[in-house]
Amino acid sequence: MPFQITCTAAKPSELLRDHLIIVPVHGKAGKLPAWTKLLPVDLQSALTAALESPSFGGKVGDSHTAHTASGYAVLLGVGEGTPTPEMLRRFYGSAIGAARRGKLKKVAAPLLPGRDGAAIAEAAVVGAALANYRFDAYRSDTTRDKIPPQVESIAFFEPDAARRKSATHGIDAGKTIAEAVTRVRDLVNTPANVLNPKSYASIAADWCRDAKIKLEVLGPREIERIGMGCVMAVGGGSANEPRFLIATYKGNKRQPKRTDVVLVGKGVTFDTGGISIKPTLDMWEMRGDMAGSAVMLSSICSAAKMKLPLNIVALTPLVENMPSGAAYRPGDVIRSLSGQTIEINSTDAEGRLILADALTYAQRFSPRAVIDIATLTGAIIVALGEVHCGIFTNKDALAGMAQKSADLTGEKVWRMPLHEDYAEKLATVVADMRNSAGREGGASVAAGFLQKFVGDFPWLHIDIAAVDLEKQGHPYCPKGASGFGARLVIEMLRNPQLARFEP
Ligand code: BES
Ligand code: MN
Ligand code: ZN
Repeated sequence: MPFQITCTAAKPSELLRDHLIIVPVHGKAGKLPAWTKLLPVDLQSALTAALESPSFGGKVGDSHTAHTASGYAVLLGVGEGTPTPEMLRRFYGSAIGAARRGKLKKVAAPLLPGRDGAAIAEAAVVGAALANYRFDAYRSDTTRDKIPPQVESIAFFEPDAARRKSATHGIDAGKTIAEAVTRVRDLVNTPANVLNPKSYASIAADWCRDAKIKLEVLGPREIERIGMGCVMAVGGGSANEPRFLIATYKGNKRQPKRTDVVLVGKGVTFDTGGISIKPTLDMWEMRGDMAGSAVMLSSICSAAKMKLPLNIVALTPLVENMPSGAAYRPGDVIRSLSGQTIEINSTDAEGRLILADALTYAQRFSPRAVIDIATLTGAIIVALGEVHCGIFTNKDALAGMAQKSADLTGEKVWRMPLHEDYAEKLATVVADMRNSAGREGGASVAAGFLQKFVGDFPWLHIDIAAVDLEKQGHPYCPKGASGFGARLVIEMLRNPQLARFEP
Protein backbone atom coordinates (compact mmCIF):
# COMPACT_ATOMS: atom_id res chain seq x y z
CA MET A 1 0.00 0.00 0.00
CA PRO A 2 1.45 3.41 -0.90
CA PHE A 3 2.35 5.85 1.83
CA GLN A 4 -0.60 8.25 2.27
CA ILE A 5 0.33 11.91 2.63
CA THR A 6 -2.28 14.58 3.30
CA CYS A 7 -2.65 18.08 4.63
CA THR A 8 -5.62 18.50 6.96
CA ALA A 9 -7.66 21.16 8.76
CA ALA A 10 -8.37 18.65 11.56
CA LYS A 11 -7.10 19.59 15.02
CA PRO A 12 -4.46 17.51 16.80
CA SER A 13 -6.95 16.80 19.58
CA GLU A 14 -9.22 15.14 16.97
CA LEU A 15 -6.36 13.27 15.30
CA LEU A 16 -5.11 11.94 18.62
CA ARG A 17 -7.69 9.13 18.56
CA ASP A 18 -5.79 7.08 15.95
CA HIS A 19 -2.57 9.02 15.22
CA LEU A 20 0.80 9.50 16.85
CA ILE A 21 0.96 13.26 17.42
CA ILE A 22 4.28 14.94 16.78
CA VAL A 23 5.01 17.89 19.07
CA PRO A 24 7.86 20.08 17.79
CA VAL A 25 10.20 21.86 20.19
CA HIS A 26 12.46 24.59 18.86
CA GLY A 27 15.91 24.59 20.42
CA LYS A 28 17.13 24.12 23.96
CA ALA A 29 14.90 26.70 25.62
CA GLY A 30 11.90 25.56 23.56
CA LYS A 31 8.33 25.60 24.82
CA LEU A 32 5.36 23.41 23.99
CA PRO A 33 3.39 24.79 21.01
CA ALA A 34 0.18 26.66 21.90
CA TRP A 35 -2.05 24.00 20.31
CA THR A 36 -0.97 21.44 22.92
CA LYS A 37 -3.28 23.33 25.36
CA LEU A 38 -6.18 21.65 23.55
CA LEU A 39 -4.85 18.13 24.19
CA PRO A 40 -6.18 16.05 27.10
CA VAL A 41 -4.61 17.09 30.42
CA ASP A 42 -2.91 13.75 31.11
CA LEU A 43 -1.01 14.01 27.82
CA GLN A 44 -0.19 17.68 28.47
CA SER A 45 1.41 16.86 31.78
CA ALA A 46 3.33 13.93 30.26
CA LEU A 47 4.67 16.28 27.57
CA THR A 48 5.63 18.92 30.13
CA ALA A 49 7.48 16.27 32.12
CA ALA A 50 9.25 15.11 28.94
CA LEU A 51 10.23 18.68 28.09
CA GLU A 52 11.75 19.17 31.52
CA SER A 53 13.64 15.88 31.49
CA PRO A 54 17.40 16.50 31.28
CA SER A 55 17.79 14.00 28.45
CA PHE A 56 15.79 16.23 26.07
CA GLY A 57 18.02 18.83 24.39
CA GLY A 58 15.76 20.09 21.59
CA LYS A 59 18.35 19.29 18.92
CA VAL A 60 17.03 18.15 15.56
CA GLY A 61 15.84 14.58 15.94
CA ASP A 62 15.94 14.54 19.78
CA SER A 63 12.82 12.71 20.85
CA HIS A 64 10.82 11.75 23.88
CA THR A 65 7.67 9.64 23.75
CA ALA A 66 4.65 10.43 25.89
CA HIS A 67 2.03 7.70 26.16
CA THR A 68 -1.05 8.06 28.33
CA ALA A 69 -4.58 6.69 28.40
CA SER A 70 -5.58 9.43 25.93
CA GLY A 71 -3.05 8.54 23.26
CA TYR A 72 0.49 8.78 21.92
CA ALA A 73 2.60 11.86 21.37
CA VAL A 74 6.27 12.40 20.68
CA LEU A 75 8.19 15.46 21.71
CA LEU A 76 10.58 16.07 18.86
CA GLY A 77 13.44 18.56 18.54
CA VAL A 78 13.50 20.85 15.51
CA GLY A 79 16.88 22.42 16.33
CA GLU A 80 17.93 26.04 16.87
CA GLY A 81 16.78 28.95 14.71
CA THR A 82 14.71 28.99 11.53
CA PRO A 83 14.67 25.43 10.20
CA THR A 84 16.66 24.84 7.00
CA PRO A 85 15.36 22.29 4.46
CA GLU A 86 17.81 19.74 5.89
CA MET A 87 16.50 20.34 9.43
CA LEU A 88 12.96 19.87 8.13
CA ARG A 89 13.84 16.60 6.38
CA ARG A 90 15.52 15.33 9.53
CA PHE A 91 12.66 16.46 11.74
CA TYR A 92 9.92 14.76 9.73
CA GLY A 93 12.21 11.78 9.07
CA SER A 94 12.70 11.38 12.83
CA ALA A 95 8.93 11.58 13.31
CA ILE A 96 8.52 8.59 11.01
CA GLY A 97 11.43 6.82 12.71
CA ALA A 98 9.76 7.22 16.12
CA ALA A 99 6.49 5.82 14.77
CA ARG A 100 8.21 2.85 13.13
CA ARG A 101 10.10 1.98 16.30
CA GLY A 102 6.82 2.14 18.23
CA LYS A 103 5.03 0.12 15.51
CA LEU A 104 2.48 2.93 15.09
CA LYS A 105 0.77 3.17 11.73
CA LYS A 106 -0.52 6.75 11.48
CA VAL A 107 1.37 9.95 12.17
CA ALA A 108 0.07 13.51 12.48
CA ALA A 109 2.49 16.41 12.56
CA PRO A 110 2.06 20.17 12.24
CA LEU A 111 3.26 21.89 9.10
CA LEU A 112 6.07 23.91 10.67
CA PRO A 113 5.79 27.70 10.36
CA GLY A 114 7.70 29.59 7.68
CA ARG A 115 7.09 31.78 4.68
CA ASP A 116 7.10 29.24 1.87
CA GLY A 117 4.47 26.62 2.72
CA ALA A 118 5.18 24.65 -0.48
CA ALA A 119 8.91 24.39 0.23
CA ILE A 120 8.26 23.34 3.83
CA ALA A 121 5.77 20.67 2.75
CA GLU A 122 8.17 19.41 0.08
CA ALA A 123 11.03 18.98 2.55
CA ALA A 124 8.63 17.37 5.03
CA VAL A 125 7.43 14.84 2.47
CA VAL A 126 10.93 14.00 1.26
CA GLY A 127 12.14 13.48 4.84
CA ALA A 128 9.09 11.46 5.88
CA ALA A 129 8.82 9.29 2.76
CA LEU A 130 12.54 8.47 2.68
CA ALA A 131 12.56 7.66 6.40
CA ASN A 132 9.76 5.21 5.66
CA TYR A 133 11.98 3.28 3.21
CA ARG A 134 12.18 -0.48 3.60
CA PHE A 135 13.79 -3.09 1.38
CA ASP A 136 12.51 -6.56 2.17
CA ALA A 137 12.17 -8.11 -1.30
CA TYR A 138 14.77 -10.75 -0.48
CA ARG A 139 13.69 -11.67 3.03
CA SER A 140 11.52 -14.61 3.89
CA ASP A 141 8.93 -14.63 6.66
CA THR A 142 11.62 -15.78 9.10
CA THR A 143 13.30 -12.36 9.21
CA ARG A 144 10.95 -9.94 7.48
CA ASP A 145 9.76 -8.41 10.76
CA LYS A 146 13.34 -7.64 11.85
CA ILE A 147 12.96 -4.39 9.87
CA PRO A 148 10.73 -1.84 11.65
CA PRO A 149 7.28 -1.79 9.97
CA GLN A 150 6.36 1.07 7.67
CA VAL A 151 4.03 3.88 8.61
CA GLU A 152 0.80 3.90 6.56
CA SER A 153 0.09 7.61 6.55
CA ILE A 154 1.20 11.04 7.63
CA ALA A 155 -1.22 13.95 8.00
CA PHE A 156 0.16 17.47 8.23
CA PHE A 157 -2.25 19.55 10.29
CA GLU A 158 -2.50 23.22 9.37
CA PRO A 159 -5.36 25.56 10.38
CA ASP A 160 -4.73 28.13 7.61
CA ALA A 161 -6.52 27.31 4.32
CA ALA A 162 -4.14 29.29 2.08
CA ARG A 163 -1.15 27.54 3.58
CA ARG A 164 -2.83 24.15 3.15
CA LYS A 165 -3.31 24.99 -0.52
CA SER A 166 0.33 25.87 -1.13
CA ALA A 167 1.35 22.79 0.85
CA THR A 168 -0.43 20.52 -1.66
CA HIS A 169 1.97 21.67 -4.41
CA GLY A 170 4.93 20.93 -2.17
CA ILE A 171 3.46 17.52 -1.35
CA ASP A 172 3.22 16.62 -5.04
CA ALA A 173 6.81 17.65 -5.77
CA GLY A 174 8.05 15.94 -2.61
CA LYS A 175 6.33 12.68 -3.57
CA THR A 176 7.89 12.72 -7.04
CA ILE A 177 11.36 13.37 -5.62
CA ALA A 178 11.01 10.73 -2.91
CA GLU A 179 9.85 8.22 -5.51
CA ALA A 180 12.97 8.92 -7.59
CA VAL A 181 15.25 8.32 -4.60
CA THR A 182 13.34 5.20 -3.57
CA ARG A 183 13.73 3.73 -7.06
CA VAL A 184 17.48 4.31 -6.99
CA ARG A 185 17.73 2.71 -3.54
CA ASP A 186 15.72 -0.30 -4.70
CA LEU A 187 17.90 -0.89 -7.78
CA VAL A 188 21.18 -0.38 -5.94
CA ASN A 189 20.04 -2.81 -3.24
CA THR A 190 18.94 -5.37 -5.84
CA PRO A 191 21.55 -8.13 -6.17
CA ALA A 192 23.40 -8.72 -9.44
CA ASN A 193 21.98 -12.23 -9.83
CA VAL A 194 18.66 -10.49 -10.42
CA LEU A 195 19.72 -7.16 -11.93
CA ASN A 196 21.67 -7.59 -15.17
CA PRO A 197 21.69 -5.42 -18.30
CA LYS A 198 18.64 -7.19 -19.76
CA SER A 199 16.45 -7.23 -16.65
CA TYR A 200 17.55 -3.65 -15.93
CA ALA A 201 16.40 -2.54 -19.39
CA SER A 202 12.94 -3.94 -18.74
CA ILE A 203 12.69 -2.11 -15.39
CA ALA A 204 13.78 1.10 -17.16
CA ALA A 205 11.04 0.49 -19.74
CA ASP A 206 8.47 0.31 -16.91
CA TRP A 207 9.73 3.58 -15.43
CA CYS A 208 9.67 5.36 -18.79
CA ARG A 209 6.20 4.09 -19.62
CA ASP A 210 4.99 5.34 -16.25
CA ALA A 211 6.59 8.78 -16.87
CA LYS A 212 5.27 8.80 -20.49
CA ILE A 213 8.70 9.31 -22.03
CA LYS A 214 10.42 7.58 -24.92
CA LEU A 215 12.99 4.83 -24.30
CA GLU A 216 15.21 3.17 -26.88
CA VAL A 217 17.05 0.01 -25.86
CA LEU A 218 20.09 -0.88 -27.96
CA GLY A 219 21.21 -4.52 -27.83
CA PRO A 220 24.74 -5.86 -28.34
CA ARG A 221 24.49 -6.07 -32.16
CA GLU A 222 23.40 -2.44 -32.39
CA ILE A 223 26.05 -1.28 -29.90
CA GLU A 224 28.73 -3.01 -31.94
CA ARG A 225 27.40 -1.63 -35.23
CA ILE A 226 27.44 1.94 -33.92
CA GLY A 227 31.07 1.43 -32.93
CA MET A 228 30.96 1.56 -29.16
CA GLY A 229 34.14 -0.47 -28.78
CA CYS A 230 34.54 0.38 -25.10
CA VAL A 231 31.06 -0.85 -24.12
CA MET A 232 31.62 -4.06 -26.13
CA ALA A 233 35.04 -4.66 -24.55
CA VAL A 234 33.90 -4.17 -20.96
CA GLY A 235 30.75 -6.22 -21.47
CA GLY A 236 32.54 -8.96 -23.42
CA GLY A 237 33.43 -11.17 -20.47
CA SER A 238 29.89 -11.70 -19.29
CA ALA A 239 27.15 -14.08 -20.39
CA ASN A 240 24.83 -11.11 -19.72
CA GLU A 241 25.26 -9.04 -22.86
CA PRO A 242 25.38 -5.23 -22.74
CA ARG A 243 22.57 -2.81 -23.40
CA PHE A 244 22.59 0.90 -24.10
CA LEU A 245 19.56 2.95 -23.04
CA ILE A 246 18.46 6.25 -24.54
CA ALA A 247 15.59 7.96 -22.72
CA THR A 248 14.16 11.18 -24.13
CA TYR A 249 11.92 13.76 -22.49
CA LYS A 250 10.74 16.80 -24.42
CA GLY A 251 9.42 19.56 -22.18
CA ASN A 252 10.88 22.68 -23.77
CA LYS A 253 7.93 24.15 -25.66
CA ARG A 254 9.75 27.32 -26.66
CA GLN A 255 12.68 25.54 -28.27
CA PRO A 256 11.43 22.08 -29.14
CA LYS A 257 14.43 21.18 -31.31
CA ARG A 258 17.33 21.80 -29.00
CA THR A 259 18.63 19.44 -26.31
CA ASP A 260 19.12 21.35 -23.09
CA VAL A 261 20.97 18.66 -21.19
CA VAL A 262 22.24 15.13 -21.67
CA LEU A 263 22.45 13.01 -18.52
CA VAL A 264 24.91 10.11 -18.51
CA GLY A 265 25.05 7.43 -15.80
CA LYS A 266 27.48 4.56 -15.20
CA GLY A 267 25.59 1.27 -15.30
CA VAL A 268 27.89 -1.59 -14.30
CA THR A 269 25.45 -4.13 -12.87
CA PHE A 270 28.38 -5.91 -11.23
CA ASP A 271 32.06 -4.96 -11.17
CA THR A 272 34.36 -7.88 -10.39
CA GLY A 273 37.27 -5.89 -11.80
CA GLY A 274 37.44 -8.35 -14.71
CA ILE A 275 40.82 -10.00 -15.36
CA SER A 276 42.35 -7.31 -13.05
CA ILE A 277 40.10 -8.92 -10.47
CA LYS A 278 39.27 -7.12 -7.23
CA PRO A 279 40.22 -8.53 -3.84
CA THR A 280 37.43 -10.43 -2.07
CA LEU A 281 36.95 -7.91 0.71
CA ASP A 282 33.83 -5.84 0.09
CA MET A 283 33.51 -6.94 -3.54
CA TRP A 284 29.81 -7.50 -2.83
CA GLU A 285 29.37 -3.72 -2.76
CA MET A 286 29.97 -3.73 -6.50
CA ARG A 287 26.37 -4.77 -7.08
CA GLY A 288 25.79 -1.04 -6.56
CA ASP A 289 28.13 -0.02 -9.40
CA MET A 290 25.09 0.93 -11.49
CA ALA A 291 23.99 3.64 -9.04
CA GLY A 292 24.82 6.46 -11.48
CA SER A 293 22.63 5.01 -14.22
CA ALA A 294 19.70 4.60 -11.81
CA VAL A 295 20.12 8.22 -10.70
CA MET A 296 19.93 9.53 -14.26
CA LEU A 297 17.03 7.33 -15.37
CA SER A 298 14.95 8.15 -12.32
CA SER A 299 15.85 11.85 -12.59
CA ILE A 300 14.67 12.15 -16.20
CA CYS A 301 11.41 10.42 -15.20
CA SER A 302 10.94 12.90 -12.34
CA ALA A 303 11.64 15.83 -14.67
CA ALA A 304 8.86 14.53 -16.93
CA LYS A 305 6.44 14.10 -14.04
CA MET A 306 7.19 17.63 -12.85
CA LYS A 307 6.78 18.88 -16.44
CA LEU A 308 10.07 20.79 -16.31
CA PRO A 309 10.50 23.10 -19.33
CA LEU A 310 13.58 21.28 -20.69
CA ASN A 311 14.49 18.80 -23.39
CA ILE A 312 16.51 16.07 -21.71
CA VAL A 313 18.23 12.92 -22.96
CA ALA A 314 19.49 10.29 -20.52
CA LEU A 315 22.12 7.79 -21.71
CA THR A 316 23.10 4.71 -19.76
CA PRO A 317 25.43 1.99 -20.90
CA LEU A 318 24.67 -1.26 -19.03
CA VAL A 319 27.35 -3.93 -18.69
CA GLU A 320 28.58 -6.60 -16.31
CA ASN A 321 32.38 -6.57 -15.80
CA MET A 322 33.40 -10.23 -15.52
CA PRO A 323 36.57 -12.27 -16.01
CA SER A 324 36.20 -15.11 -18.52
CA GLY A 325 37.69 -16.59 -21.68
CA ALA A 326 35.91 -13.88 -23.65
CA ALA A 327 36.89 -11.01 -21.36
CA TYR A 328 39.07 -8.08 -22.43
CA ARG A 329 42.59 -8.15 -21.02
CA PRO A 330 45.21 -5.78 -19.67
CA GLY A 331 47.38 -4.78 -22.63
CA ASP A 332 44.51 -4.92 -25.15
CA VAL A 333 43.98 -1.89 -27.33
CA ILE A 334 40.39 -0.96 -28.01
CA ARG A 335 38.85 1.58 -30.33
CA SER A 336 36.31 3.90 -28.72
CA LEU A 337 33.27 5.38 -30.46
CA SER A 338 35.21 8.66 -30.71
CA GLY A 339 37.87 6.91 -32.80
CA GLN A 340 40.49 7.41 -30.08
CA THR A 341 42.29 4.20 -29.12
CA ILE A 342 42.80 3.07 -25.55
CA GLU A 343 45.35 0.67 -24.13
CA ILE A 344 43.88 -1.25 -21.22
CA ASN A 345 46.00 -0.89 -18.16
CA SER A 346 43.45 -2.27 -15.76
CA THR A 347 40.19 -3.97 -16.66
CA ASP A 348 38.97 -2.61 -13.32
CA ALA A 349 39.00 0.96 -14.67
CA GLU A 350 35.90 -0.01 -16.68
CA GLY A 351 33.52 2.78 -15.70
CA ARG A 352 35.46 5.48 -17.55
CA LEU A 353 35.51 3.26 -20.65
CA ILE A 354 31.77 2.83 -20.96
CA LEU A 355 31.25 6.49 -20.03
CA ALA A 356 33.69 7.49 -22.80
CA ASP A 357 31.41 5.96 -25.44
CA ALA A 358 28.30 7.44 -23.83
CA LEU A 359 29.87 10.92 -23.64
CA THR A 360 30.87 10.68 -27.30
CA TYR A 361 27.31 9.65 -28.17
CA ALA A 362 26.03 12.63 -26.13
CA GLN A 363 27.70 15.03 -28.58
CA ARG A 364 25.24 13.97 -31.30
CA PHE A 365 22.60 16.01 -29.52
CA SER A 366 24.71 19.22 -29.41
CA PRO A 367 23.59 19.67 -25.81
CA ARG A 368 23.76 22.92 -23.83
CA ALA A 369 25.23 20.88 -20.97
CA VAL A 370 26.27 17.33 -20.19
CA ILE A 371 26.12 15.90 -16.68
CA ASP A 372 27.49 12.47 -15.81
CA ILE A 373 27.33 10.61 -12.51
CA ALA A 374 29.23 7.46 -11.60
CA THR A 375 30.57 5.30 -8.80
CA LEU A 376 33.87 5.87 -10.55
CA THR A 377 36.92 5.74 -8.29
CA GLY A 378 38.15 4.39 -4.97
CA ALA A 379 40.40 7.47 -4.97
CA ILE A 380 37.45 9.80 -4.35
CA ILE A 381 36.65 7.76 -1.24
CA VAL A 382 40.20 8.29 0.01
CA ALA A 383 39.98 12.01 -0.76
CA LEU A 384 36.51 12.88 0.55
CA GLY A 385 35.39 9.93 2.66
CA GLU A 386 31.69 9.16 2.85
CA VAL A 387 30.65 12.78 3.26
CA HIS A 388 30.92 14.75 0.00
CA CYS A 389 30.80 13.51 -3.55
CA GLY A 390 33.43 14.90 -5.92
CA ILE A 391 32.48 17.27 -8.74
CA PHE A 392 34.64 18.15 -11.73
CA THR A 393 33.75 20.64 -14.43
CA ASN A 394 35.04 22.67 -17.36
CA LYS A 395 32.50 25.41 -16.63
CA ASP A 396 32.40 27.32 -13.35
CA ALA A 397 28.67 28.06 -13.69
CA LEU A 398 27.95 24.32 -13.50
CA ALA A 399 29.97 24.03 -10.29
CA GLY A 400 27.95 26.93 -8.91
CA MET A 401 24.70 25.25 -9.85
CA ALA A 402 25.80 21.96 -8.30
CA GLN A 403 26.74 23.79 -5.10
CA LYS A 404 23.37 25.53 -4.97
CA SER A 405 21.62 22.22 -5.46
CA ALA A 406 23.75 20.67 -2.70
CA ASP A 407 22.82 23.49 -0.31
CA LEU A 408 19.13 22.82 -0.95
CA THR A 409 19.21 19.03 -0.90
CA GLY A 410 21.88 18.29 1.69
CA GLU A 411 23.69 16.07 -0.84
CA LYS A 412 27.12 17.60 -0.33
CA VAL A 413 29.49 18.30 -3.21
CA TRP A 414 33.15 19.27 -3.21
CA ARG A 415 34.88 20.63 -6.30
CA MET A 416 37.95 18.69 -7.33
CA PRO A 417 40.65 19.69 -9.81
CA LEU A 418 40.23 19.07 -13.51
CA HIS A 419 43.50 19.81 -15.31
CA GLU A 420 45.29 18.50 -18.36
CA ASP A 421 48.37 17.67 -16.27
CA TYR A 422 46.37 14.82 -14.70
CA ALA A 423 45.30 13.51 -18.11
CA GLU A 424 48.92 13.65 -19.31
CA LYS A 425 49.67 10.76 -17.02
CA LEU A 426 47.56 8.62 -19.35
CA ALA A 427 50.07 8.86 -22.22
CA THR A 428 51.31 5.47 -23.44
CA VAL A 429 53.44 3.89 -26.19
CA VAL A 430 51.08 1.88 -28.38
CA ALA A 431 47.77 3.78 -28.26
CA ASP A 432 46.30 7.28 -27.94
CA MET A 433 45.97 6.80 -24.17
CA ARG A 434 45.73 4.18 -21.45
CA ASN A 435 42.80 3.84 -19.09
CA SER A 436 44.55 4.27 -15.73
CA ALA A 437 47.74 5.61 -14.21
CA GLY A 438 48.79 4.73 -10.68
CA ARG A 439 47.11 5.75 -7.46
CA GLU A 440 48.06 9.42 -7.21
CA GLY A 441 45.18 11.81 -7.81
CA GLY A 442 43.14 8.90 -9.16
CA ALA A 443 39.79 10.72 -9.19
CA SER A 444 41.23 13.65 -11.18
CA VAL A 445 43.00 11.28 -13.59
CA ALA A 446 39.68 9.52 -14.22
CA ALA A 447 37.97 12.89 -14.79
CA GLY A 448 40.79 13.89 -17.14
CA PHE A 449 40.22 10.67 -19.08
CA LEU A 450 36.50 11.44 -19.44
CA GLN A 451 37.22 14.97 -20.61
CA LYS A 452 38.89 13.57 -23.73
CA PHE A 453 35.40 12.43 -24.81
CA VAL A 454 33.25 15.50 -24.07
CA GLY A 455 34.62 17.94 -26.63
CA ASP A 456 33.99 21.56 -25.70
CA PHE A 457 30.52 21.04 -24.29
CA PRO A 458 29.84 22.45 -20.81
CA TRP A 459 30.22 19.37 -18.67
CA LEU A 460 29.88 18.33 -15.04
CA HIS A 461 31.18 15.01 -13.75
CA ILE A 462 29.99 13.70 -10.37
CA ASP A 463 31.92 10.87 -8.65
CA ILE A 464 29.63 9.18 -6.12
CA ALA A 465 31.75 6.19 -5.08
CA ALA A 466 31.25 5.77 -1.30
CA VAL A 467 28.23 8.03 -0.93
CA ASP A 468 26.03 5.62 -2.89
CA LEU A 469 25.89 3.40 0.21
CA GLU A 470 24.90 4.68 3.65
CA LYS A 471 26.94 2.89 6.30
CA GLN A 472 25.58 4.44 9.52
CA GLY A 473 22.02 5.42 8.69
CA HIS A 474 20.49 8.83 9.50
CA PRO A 475 16.93 10.09 10.13
CA TYR A 476 15.84 9.82 6.51
CA CYS A 477 18.18 7.15 5.22
CA PRO A 478 18.35 3.67 6.70
CA LYS A 479 21.54 1.64 6.20
CA GLY A 480 22.05 0.40 2.65
CA ALA A 481 21.67 2.20 -0.67
CA SER A 482 21.27 5.96 -0.15
CA GLY A 483 19.96 6.99 -3.56
CA PHE A 484 22.53 9.81 -3.44
CA GLY A 485 22.51 11.99 -6.54
CA ALA A 486 18.87 11.85 -7.58
CA ARG A 487 17.90 14.84 -5.44
CA LEU A 488 21.06 16.69 -6.46
CA VAL A 489 20.44 16.19 -10.19
CA ILE A 490 16.68 16.90 -10.02
CA GLU A 491 17.39 20.15 -8.19
CA MET A 492 19.86 21.16 -10.90
CA LEU A 493 17.21 20.42 -13.55
CA ARG A 494 14.72 22.59 -11.66
CA ASN A 495 17.17 25.50 -11.66
CA PRO A 496 16.04 27.90 -14.42
CA GLN A 497 19.68 28.85 -15.00
CA LEU A 498 20.19 25.55 -16.84
CA ALA A 499 17.75 26.49 -19.64
CA ARG A 500 19.51 29.83 -20.08
CA PHE A 501 22.84 28.18 -20.83
CA GLU A 502 24.45 29.24 -24.07
CA PRO A 503 26.50 26.70 -25.99
N1 BES B 1 33.52 0.74 -9.31
C1 BES B 1 34.88 1.02 -8.98
C2 BES B 1 35.02 2.20 -8.04
C3 BES B 1 34.46 2.02 -6.65
C4 BES B 1 35.27 1.54 -5.64
C5 BES B 1 33.16 2.33 -6.36
C6 BES B 1 34.77 1.37 -4.36
C7 BES B 1 32.63 2.18 -5.09
C8 BES B 1 33.45 1.69 -4.08
C9 BES B 1 35.67 1.32 -10.25
O1 BES B 1 35.24 0.64 -11.38
C10 BES B 1 37.08 0.90 -10.00
O2 BES B 1 37.29 -0.28 -9.83
N2 BES B 1 38.00 1.85 -10.00
C11 BES B 1 39.38 1.55 -9.80
C12 BES B 1 40.18 2.32 -10.82
C13 BES B 1 41.63 1.96 -10.82
C14 BES B 1 41.83 0.56 -11.34
C15 BES B 1 42.36 2.97 -11.69
C16 BES B 1 39.74 1.99 -8.39
O3 BES B 1 39.29 3.06 -7.97
O4 BES B 1 40.43 1.26 -7.70
MN1 MN C 1 36.16 -1.26 -11.55
ZN1 ZN D 1 33.27 0.07 -11.43
